[in-house]
Amino acid sequence: MAHIPVLLKEAIEVLKPEPGRFFIDGTIDGGGHAEEILKRISPKGRLLGIDLDDSMIESLKRSGRLEKYSKENEIEIFCGNYANLPEILKEKNLPKGDGLLLDLGFSSEQLESSGRGFTFKKDEPLIMTYDPSATPVREILRNIEERELADIIYQFGGERFSRKIAAAIKRAGRKKKIETTGELNEIIKSELPKNYERGRIEPSTRTFQALRIYANRELENLENIIKRISEAVKLEGRVAIISFHSLEDRIVKKFFKRMARQNEIEILTPKPIRPTKEESSRNPRSRSAMLRAARVISN
Ligand SMILES: C[S@@+](CC[C@H](N)C(=O)[O-])C[C@H]1O[C@@H](n2cnc3c(N)ncnc32)[C@H](O)[C@@H]1O
Repeated sequence: MAHIPVLLKEAIEVLKPEPGRFFIDGTIDGGGHAEEILKRISPKGRLLGIDLDDSMIESLKRSGRLEKYSKENEIEIFCGNYANLPEILKEKNLPKGDGLLLDLGFSSEQLESSGRGFTFKKDEPLIMTYDPSATPVREILRNIEERELADIIYQFGGERFSRKIAAAIKRAGRKKKIETTGELNEIIKSELPKNYERGRIEPSTRTFQALRIYANRELENLENIIKRISEAVKLEGRVAIISFHSLEDRIVKKFFKRMARQNEIEILTPKPIRPTKEESSRNPRSRSAMLRAARVISN
């Protein structure tokens, strides 16, 4: 299923792309947001799109989705980590952006077609990394201490049965290497009570979220780029960040507040912008989305 861009209209409204501007999409994926940005920076605009997942970069290029804008604009798309944006801009001899968008996490396409185990609903190799060359979760589980694993499941998943789950994973791994999402799902399910969370969420949801966040250093990457936002976005430029869970949103909120106190940015969204009822029902994936935006006021 093609990924439906989340909070698209709202992100464009806060970013205010205009003809001739240079915009950066730090998580370009299938190019949903990027295409809307290109429509508005055209003509003579410039777009830099990066993504950690080279297969998404390849499929975006193959799709030709952004091709029609390439005559009137400069478009550069390649594989990279948004946390290294200041270095990427220097290396490519690019200026700071007039705007930066980060649409965090994974896309529907990665979930459904990557074959890298982003969901326990399919039995796939237990990889779960956006960057295919990063250490896969199956290897992390082999080498990590039980105590650290329990902490990760608790901190990044909010899972109160974290100690039990970590013990079960290590116990099972000693008998036979855990290789697939299906195997991990079974281990977790067998440890948790039958009426886990009264059926509101699946037993594996929190543990899978925690392992994905850890394997991809998701919170670290986010913190690193926010702290250095003025090295990637120019004075008066805008940044918009779409988060999908409270751990991410808390980081954006905390750093935005701190930077606003230091007169580095002006916060444009006192409260996070949430999807409308209409968007939530049209695209259930958008339900947890929260958009925060800021303007750089010193650098
Ligand atoms: C929700 S999708 C973006 C969807 C896109 N805005 C669209 O509408 O088509 C998030 C993307 O961010 C990528 N990603 C995750 N962490 C990243 C990082 N640190 N640097 C660059 N890309 C990252 C993922 O590989 C994924 O393709």
